[in-house]
Amino acid sequence: MSAPLLSVRDLTVEYRVGRGRLRAVDHIDFDLDAGQTLAVIGESGSGKSTVASALLRLVPHTTGRIDFDGLRWDDLKGAALRRERHRMQFIPQDAGSSLDPRWRVRESVAEPLVVAGTSAREARARAGEMLDRVGLEGPLQERFPHQLSGGQRQRIAIARALISRPRLVICDEAVSALDVSLQAEIVNLLVELRAERELTYVFITHDIALLPYIADRVAVLYLGQIVEAGPARSVLENPQHPYTQGLLSSLPRAEPGIGQARPVRGEIPDPADPPSGCRFHPRCPLALDECAVVEPTVELVAPDHAASCHLLVPTGATSPTTTDPGTTDPGITGPGTTGPGTTALPTTPSLRKARS
Ligand SMILES: Nc1ncnc2c1ncn2[C@@H]1O[C@H](COP(=O)(O)OP(=O)(O)OP(=O)(O)O)[C@@H](O)[C@H]1O
Ligand code: SF4
Ligand SMILES: [Mg+2]
Repeated sequence: MSAPLLSVRDLTVEYRVGRGRLRAVDHIDFDLDAGQTLAVIGESGSGKSTVASALLRLVPHTTGRIDFDGLRWDDLKGAALRRERHRMQFIPQDAGSSLDPRWRVRESVAEPLVVAGTSAREARARAGEMLDRVGLEGPLQERFPHQLSGGQRQRIAIARALISRPRLVICDEAVSALDVSLQAEIVNLLVELRAERELTYVFITHDIALLPYIADRVAVLYLGQIVEAGPARSVLENPQHPYTQGLLSSLPRAEPGIGQARPVRGEIPDPADPPSGCRFHPRCPLALDECAVVEPTVELVAPDHAASCHLLVPTGATSPTTTDPGTTDPGITGPGTTGPGTTALPTTPSLRKARS
């Protein structure tokens, strides 16, 4: 099996706040194979954009290692980082604010190539082709960003991100500001481009309904930790963590799993002062006494699908050698982890106990 395109281990990001530190990302691990889309979901403040910023090397990380496209990505600095940055690109939520209002669309899209040393003439030609491909043709390319709609500006952002032929594109709420029909158009475009250009995506979203259309894998972040991760189908159809179940409760395809799928109640706690034990315990409808004290370990609940909750126990264990050889590390490990490689694979996820 070839190495994943992106491998993240023990990644922690802390911000200085006042005299203290806020841990926005807390010892996370995941792998992403080339050509796949990892959807990262979680409430506002769960650390999604901080993960993106750390991958893009826009914020420093406190611990951890990032291997990307054959490079020790977290070690790159200065000129070497500038030279390699084109491999990982970004599509933001609000493309308008990331575009220079004084530049015509085609110039904005050509700019990364010009900065990388391509002649202005060739860069313009390639920008024109790229814009054609994302559906902004002819005179639209000579307009200024404020003369275009939100959907058209997202197309510019896609063209600008893809012009330098990246391997990985991080989409941070890239379609969230659009209305539903435009979201579908842009998601379909991203899916087409992924196949055409052999792209890999990290797709950060709070639009759960989009996941079945774009995600191959899903990672669920809560207060900076990945609490559940696995193949999209497995996570969406059989979410195991009460937090994931709450997030997915609006999805018609989500099955109740443990207890009932109830929307997540209350507010996300302050990450500068996270709850003890399981961080979700103050909000969890199924919390046990031990949840306030003991941090749950990571359990494999289905092939390649892991979650961390005291209620989860793998049953019907089979030998790890029965794993589908095409599957990858579910990539959630942390303090107290049993580790995916050392946990016997269950055939069916089940729960030890559940409170109604
Ligand atoms: N530059 C910063 N300095 C201090 N704290 C920050 C900074 N950036 C983010 N945070 C905090 O880190 C935590 C995670 O923020 P982040 O923006 O990564 O969350 P998010 O999941 O992307 O949220 P949203 O869905 O609202 O975009 C939040 O508590 C946020 O307030
Ligand atoms: S460990 Fe306890 S509090 Fe945390 S999600 Fe599981 S049941 Fe809820
Ligand atoms: Mg964000």
